Amino acid sequence: MDSNNYLESNKDRFLEELFELLRIPSISADTAYESDVVKTAELVKTSLEKAGAENVELCQTEGYPIVYGEKIIDPNLPTVLVYGHYDVQPPDPIELWTTEPFDPQIRTTEIHPKGAIFARGACDDKGQMFMHVKAFEVMLATDSLPCNVKFMIEGEEEVGSENLDQFLIDNKEKLKADVVLVSDTGIISNDIPSITVGLRGLSYVEVEVTGPNRDLHSGLYGGGVPNPINILCEMVAGLKDENQHITVEGFYDKVVELSNDEREAMAKAPFSKEEFKKSIDISDVEGEEGYSVPERLSIRPTLDLNGIWGGYIGEGAKTVIASKANAKISMRLVPDQEPEEITRLFQEHFEKIAPNSVKVKVTPHHGGDPAVTPIDHPAYRAASKAMETTFGKTPVPFRGGGSIPIVAAFEKILGLKTVLMGFGLDSDAIHSPDEHYGVFNYFKGIETIPHFYKNYEEMMRS
Ligand code: BES
Ligand code: MN
Ligand code: MN
Repeated sequence: MDSNNYLESNKDRFLEELFELLRIPSISADTAYESDVVKTAELVKTSLEKAGAENVELCQTEGYPIVYGEKIIDPNLPTVLVYGHYDVQPPDPIELWTTEPFDPQIRTTEIHPKGAIFARGACDDKGQMFMHVKAFEVMLATDSLPCNVKFMIEGEEEVGSENLDQFLIDNKEKLKADVVLVSDTGIISNDIPSITVGLRGLSYVEVEVTGPNRDLHSGLYGGGVPNPINILCEMVAGLKDENQHITVEGFYDKVVELSNDEREAMAKAPFSKEEFKKSIDISDVEGEEGYSVPERLSIRPTLDLNGIWGGYIGEGAKTVIASKANAKISMRLVPDQEPEEITRLFQEHFEKIAPNSVKVKVTPHHGGDPAVTPIDHPAYRAASKAMETTFGKTPVPFRGGGSIPIVAAFEKILGLKTVLMGFGLDSDAIHSPDEHYGVFNYFKGIETIPHFYKNYEEMMRS
């Protein structure tokens, strides 16, 4: 049987097995789900074993286990290290889901006329990670695996992969490979395949502004004391100037500006501002002066409030001046910005702009390095040719706005380049209510991955 026949005759089972994985709420951010996260790791382990992987194990870390498995067919052949994550984001706000986040359902949408799987993790990253397990099964069952494979599937990606660097350092020999293959990104659309060649880094901080030592009556004290909510709002409003330039001193010092050629090449990637606006129902875009929307979304750094709170938010009116106000702020970084340095610059700036009447505290959260992946690498060419075969079009190289901090770590610690061959769509609502993944995309991935291995082995031979 050839691999396409095998895939065709096992499609229902491949969907059902993914559903099983999606039914476990592996929310790494919330300790209430600890046993579910571990259960998911065990199911990934069993699925790798069933598919035919060897030496499958749960590698314990300070946090959640990393699932490892391999198939070494000949030490002289190239080795591909597959990375993915089995943890997911919290489903909140849960009331905005059409059906339960951990009860996968297939429904059609305008963009997915053949149906999409609705569940938390369907696209990010259980569905995409599992394509690799199933493609591996297909290759083994049809005797067509052309090189060695190692799997490394982690459970802490959504909380910053804090134990992964140490795992890489401790397991250099075990993880020895020629390239890393990841499906945790997207394509431009189902008719326009693309390969992500850049990811932004991340610096994430929480700030707290404290005024009076207790909540106060806003009539007795209002007008004569610092109001931390007012002050926090003024402070964050000043973090960008009228051109939407970030005002933190030194913030742009290490930003690599693209050459005109590179910007022209980027401008060739298809993008419709009108469709973009329509897809999220906004009447106009917003962003840094002097850059196009795709540039603002990928090659330029950002500063965004992710949450802000303080004072009374219950029903009715309560006349109160709160003692504290807080906010969570993310900064997406581009080469060669360094997350630790940006966090420090932010902290210094934020302390400097605070009026004497309040105390401020800046608490750093997880961060991550930006990454660019090469297009002149045999594995990129193998992925490009594979997608060309299955989509009928050459994929467009494309820089993404999201972050996968591990990509920089693969390079720094293991000296490995990564290929980001993802199959999701921006409209798949990852991290949002009603996350989904196209049935078309799931099977297209399973179909494409074996072509990657075949092309890669051939390219490495010549
Ligand atoms: N898979 C995403 C990142 C992504 C999605 C990159 C789509 C490009 C296109 C990943 O799971 C993710 O959500 N990463 C986090 C960073 C992490 C440190 C929490 C992110 O980008 O917010
Ligand atoms: Mn992901
Ligand atoms: Mn994610």
